[in-house]
Amino acid sequence: MSTVDYAVQSSVAVLTVAYPPVNALSLAVRAGLGEGVARAIADPAVKAIVVIGSGTIFIAGADISEFGTPNSAAEPRLQTLQAQFEASPKPIVAAIHGTALGGGLELALTCHARVAVQSAKVGLPEVKLGLLPGAGGTIRLPRLTGVVVALEAITTGRHIGAVEANKLGIVDAIVFDLKADAIGYALKLAAEGTPPPVRDRNDKITGVDPKVFADFRARAGKKWRGQIAPARIVDVIEAATTRSFDDAKAFENEQFKALMESDQRKALIHYFFAEREARKIPDVPADIKPLPIRKVVVIGSGLMGGGIAMSFANAGIPVKLLDIDAEALARGMGVIRKTYETSLSRGSITQAQLDERFGRIEPVGGYDDLGDVDMAIEAVFEDMALKQKIFALLDKATPPHAILGTNTSSLDIDQIASATTRPDKVIGAHFFSPANVMKLLEAVRGSKTSAETIATVMALGKQIGKAPVLAGNCDGFIGNRMLQYYTVNAEYMLERGATPEQIDRVAEQFGMAMGPLAMRDLAGMAQAVNVRAVRKLTLPADERMPELVERMVEAGRIGQKSSAGFYRYDGRERLPDPAALDLIRAEAQRQGIEQRSFTDEEILARLFHPLVNEGAKELEEGIAIRASDIDVAWVNGYGFPVHTGGPMFWGEQIGLDKVLATARTLGAENGQTRWGPSRLLERLVAEGKGWKDAPALIAAGL
Ligand code: 3HC
Repeated sequence: MSTVDYAVQSSVAVLTVAYPPVNALSLAVRAGLGEGVARAIADPAVKAIVVIGSGTIFIAGADISEFGTPNSAAEPRLQTLQAQFEASPKPIVAAIHGTALGGGLELALTCHARVAVQSAKVGLPEVKLGLLPGAGGTIRLPRLTGVVVALEAITTGRHIGAVEANKLGIVDAIVFDLKADAIGYALKLAAEGTPPPVRDRNDKITGVDPKVFADFRARAGKKWRGQIAPARIVDVIEAATTRSFDDAKAFENEQFKALMESDQRKALIHYFFAEREARKIPDVPADIKPLPIRKVVVIGSGLMGGGIAMSFANAGIPVKLLDIDAEALARGMGVIRKTYETSLSRGSITQAQLDERFGRIEPVGGYDDLGDVDMAIEAVFEDMALKQKIFALLDKATPPHAILGTNTSSLDIDQIASATTRPDKVIGAHFFSPANVMKLLEAVRGSKTSAETIATVMALGKQIGKAPVLAGNCDGFIGNRMLQYYTVNAEYMLERGATPEQIDRVAEQFGMAMGPLAMRDLAGMAQAVNVRAVRKLTLPADERMPELVERMVEAGRIGQKSSAGFYRYDGRERLPDPAALDLIRAEAQRQGIEQRSFTDEEILARLFHPLVNEGAKELEEGIAIRASDIDVAWVNGYGFPVHTGGPMFWGEQIGLDKVLATARTLGAENGQTRWGPSRLLERLVAEGKGWKDAPALIAAGL
């Protein structure tokens, strides 16, 4: 079969796009559709045309892998095809199932009507790739939905369910038997006369108050955190209301091209492929079948356990929530219920969804009834003896095929696995809090974890809507191991004279949701003192742990909870606090550290370069498989701005030599053992190479 199959049924030409996996609009598909429409128009026996996708999807958009290649600019370009569609004297109906995204929806918007099955979704997600819809989406969608809906839909790129899309005017009819009903719809249009194309419908975009755009910029702009595409999207939608179709289209083209050239677009497309690549594990053959996970038990009903249980329930997988403390279990179920009720009150779920999801979580008080689970995830506090006890119990209580996961964020997976008779089925399954929201799932392989277990957890991660990344077994795995460099470095800079406001401002302008010191205040410092006391015991001899957190706690400044920490708080508003600065200065004096001023540029380097250096060490040690896996972990687990592509991509973009220079400075200041440069980084810089060359260098022993 070619990329577009042509068949005539009941006087309707049915063009079936068959270009796996997602029917992207590659040159071959565009050419096939163009030829199909021309043939249908020329055939007197054909009254109308239906465009439909084969497989599980309509069309996922432009072929991203074609970007930057001659094929993307070759005729027929998408816009040429769209003009041909709109000029067709015979009505064209898009028959949508699965998803119609980006250029796929934009092509459907040049059809004379769109019908969809109820489960279908449509959307213009280009913003997630640092782009705007460049094939008329910003000009045609508001003509159907009005500008308010279009602004929200295109700046967020969200997928819109068919029923909602029908209400919004994007989809003309919900159908059941897609092909047959689309043919019927097309014949009806042919009988009534081909309707005008969307481009000629102007009622929803005339007389729009410019204030709508100003208000939207003011309201939504806060969420964009340094991304450039959303603001451009608002500009082009506004142009659609003030200019002629062709002028607005020219403006859209110009803005699309500019974004195509942007660093953010490159970074976001890197990220798109990174997330998909992370699921592929080189030593896990692609033909290994993941075990089906039909029921799960989560041990521990605290915030983490509850969040993990919700992640499964939300994805339709029944889950037992186990806690031997009846009161804690009741409390945990109460928190889950409340979380769902909050979602209901915000309108993000319906009452039926609440009932369904909550109904999938069964509280259980012991290990007697676990014969029907395919997987267990332990989420109790970080105590090796306790975890080993639980794993021994799970080993007896669950069926032999069941996978046993631990949500530990730092403990040794092998030591936990040694408490069972099935170490091949034991794996780290590290979720991030709140687990029902955060997308990162760090799977951690022990020395005996089998390929099947890894394949299962990676597939399960995708199934429950997470971004899974596989890490090796070490203290802190991929993410937390790097985190300490970021947070501790912020304190080193305070000692040397930077202020909390300056450090957090630089981090937040870079795109982090919250700077490291505001984050410390939010998380609270009392607990951190205990963790640091343990960490101090294993610190290399050449390193000194800053003690600002300890001083803050001694002064009763434990963070937001006490309305004072690195800042003072008026309710939730954070305010600079001279008392905090005095305390920092006194501690610097006590340590004999001279204070000086820092430029924003230096702060940025000192906050983020060490992440890249430590990431390189993880690659050297085989803790992370690829640099891009580290990007996926940091974007989804720690809020690293996705439009930078993640720390490793960003580091390479700004220059690995700069990262190396910072590592040399920090090694000299803070101790070479941990802060000094990674050998891999040194080699890459010396040889003018990048991350793609790392595997060969590592395999050759650096
Ligand atoms: N172009 C090229 N390859 C694509 C693609 C696209 N638009 N969309 C997905 N793929 C590839 C993926 O890289 C992956 O390849 P792999 O198997 O080799 O890793 C494969 O298709 C399957 O993708 P997923 O793993 O993501 O499959 P899912 O079933 O989970 O999701 C999807 C399917 C919802 C369609 C998801 O792939 C997706 O969101 N795709 C991107 C959609 C998009 O952003 N479209 C806009 C493109 S830009 C555009 O249209 C510009 C226009 O305005 C001019």
